[in-house]
Amino acid sequence: MTDDERFSLLVGVMGAGELWPVPDERIPPGVPMSAAYVPGIPRLGVPALLMSDAGLGVTNPGYRPGDTATALPAGLALAASFDPALAREAGGLIGREARSRGFNVQLAGAMNLARDPRNGRNFEYVSEDPLLTATIAAESVKGIQHEGVISTVKHYSLNGNETNRHWLDAVIDPDAHRESDLLAFEMAIERGAPGAVMAAYNKINGDYAAANDVLINGVLKGAWGYRGWVMSDWGATPGWECALAGLDQECGAQIDALLWGSEAFGDPLRAAHAEGGLASERLSDMVRRILRSMFAVGVDRAHVGPAPDMDAHNEIALRIARAGIVLLANRGALPLAPESSPRIAVIGGYAHAGVAAGYGSAAVVPPGGYAAVVPIGGQGLEAGMRNLYLLPSSPLSELRERLPRAQIEFDPGLGPAEAAMAARRADVAIVFAVRAEGEGFDGADLSLPWGQDAVIAAVAAANPNTVVVLETGNPVTMPWRNSVNAILQAWYPGQNGGRAIAEVLAGVVNPSGRLPITFPVDLGQTPRPELPDPATPWGTPTTIDYFEGADVGYRWFAKRGLAPMFAFGHGLSYTRFEYRDLVLGAGDTISASFSVANVGDRAGADVPQLYLTSAPGERCSRLLGFERVELEPGATRRVSIEADARLLAHYDGGAGTWRIAPGGYTVAVGASAVALRLAGGVELAGRAFGR
Ligand code: GLC
Repeated sequence: MTDDERFSLLVGVMGAGELWPVPDERIPPGVPMSAAYVPGIPRLGVPALLMSDAGLGVTNPGYRPGDTATALPAGLALAASFDPALAREAGGLIGREARSRGFNVQLAGAMNLARDPRNGRNFEYVSEDPLLTATIAAESVKGIQHEGVISTVKHYSLNGNETNRHWLDAVIDPDAHRESDLLAFEMAIERGAPGAVMAAYNKINGDYAAANDVLINGVLKGAWGYRGWVMSDWGATPGWECALAGLDQECGAQIDALLWGSEAFGDPLRAAHAEGGLASERLSDMVRRILRSMFAVGVDRAHVGPAPDMDAHNEIALRIARAGIVLLANRGALPLAPESSPRIAVIGGYAHAGVAAGYGSAAVVPPGGYAAVVPIGGQGLEAGMRNLYLLPSSPLSELRERLPRAQIEFDPGLGPAEAAMAARRADVAIVFAVRAEGEGFDGADLSLPWGQDAVIAAVAAANPNTVVVLETGNPVTMPWRNSVNAILQAWYPGQNGGRAIAEVLAGVVNPSGRLPITFPVDLGQTPRPELPDPATPWGTPTTIDYFEGADVGYRWFAKRGLAPMFAFGHGLSYTRFEYRDLVLGAGDTISASFSVANVGDRAGADVPQLYLTSAPGERCSRLLGFERVELEPGATRRVSIEADARLLAHYDGGAGTWRIAPGGYTVAVGASAVALRLAGGVELAGRAFGR
């Protein structure tokens, strides 16, 4: 390769679309518009890289007028299924739909730990736990790459908040970082082998993610031996020196020119190389990493893939929505009895029109287009992406289909008084509540917007048989929770969400989702009841000290003896499960086997979870394993789990190794992080391992 050819692979430019309406002459005419274009090297048979977003489907923010794709449920919904095989199918779907449009890089694998329930992008992510996050993310990556499309994992690292993300310094104890967000990335990269890693916008301990020598050269490429390439986020390359810290490719270069005054890996990097600032060995390494991943994943054989089976993909979206819905509470109102002919009031949440979806670079235009797009706006660069999207899957219509003998009326839920009247006329009142969340914005609190709490309270006061269905991208506070009969968390349920919600309400589907994120009673239970400088103007440098370290989510609640509103791993069923006969093994790690029995009267799926509950000198709570088990009534299944040794260990940064302390360890099998049912203990000899 010539140096010119080498440098040509190091810059990705955005196609013209809603987010950046300026065509870039570096993109040849006829190239399918995308999040980034990197020219190929025809002389050497190196195809161009065409990158598309994201992890919930192939997006199209104006790049390709009229083009639509399967709009999957939120990452939290997929995670709530606790079903790695389903995550693999979701990845395959995305890979096929990307390939059919000529894309060979999918900017998926969004997997930052959900540290803060206000984080607008949690709907794109997976969970608050490293193991669940890594398991789901890795399977999604494998599914995408199996189709010959490179997947990323992102945003490396500690992009746990959105507000002022370009100017946010995320501070954390380095060892705690290795035991939490970095452990999730480490396990996901081991298991999924993503061709690329995307660095985050924020700083970590003072250095921008793309310029973070410790995290890229030290941990990712050094300790973990990662052989793929590191790309920047869009407009997140503050200078050519990022190449010395380990960044291999600048993406969204036009935004760098806007934010930092110039693109970084174009002329500035070439000049640095000419002046000896960038060694030729490093230039070759940057290029080799990109080419290696292209060949490892098979994009060198890239061609436009066949038209995917969109009906089959529609079915996958439905299955994820069904498996991801979490029945949080049920005092008998659910399932609705289809044989009866109840009067049902369906209230609010645009339930007549569709279901909510999150906003930002992961938003997918569904087949047939959105049912509605409500511009929300706000401050800063991301305000243009801030919309309430409604996917055309109406819970109201779907309920009418599944309950043909019921008399169902719709009330828009515009105000408490009118909604209460509708509730009084009904046997059952089902209130839908939505919250528009997404990229670039953290919620100011956890409350439902637009007066929905008051509507729910008024309906509950008018009808004791009130059911609440939430379509949100995060936990929400529920001041009305003790006065309603049942609560369903449907997340952003994707293009078939209305049907999945109706099937669970009508009992056609037995709910089986389990919470991938803790629902606190209120923010007072979290490490940061108030974000620092909550009213700071957009563009102001801020710092968040993630002093909780690795005690993210349920681990924080366990350490502080707090009782959440709904715990990590929680979810009810229309049947009942029991756990029996725990047998433990000890050696280099802990193994456990136990039986799960469906002792109810209908088929259903359960997700028994194995937790570490104490280690020498400490009480703790760490998910060591889980398995989703589908059982007919009366059936029993034996489950076996072997813990990843790092989950039993602490990271010793001084020695650069993991350490399992010698002594006693206790574990428990639970239906959630707090509903622990079988317990046992083992002795471990203790050892040091890994890097
Ligand atoms: C966005 C996101 C990133 C996305 C990229 C391309 O700002 O942070 O997740 O893949 O830019 O759209």
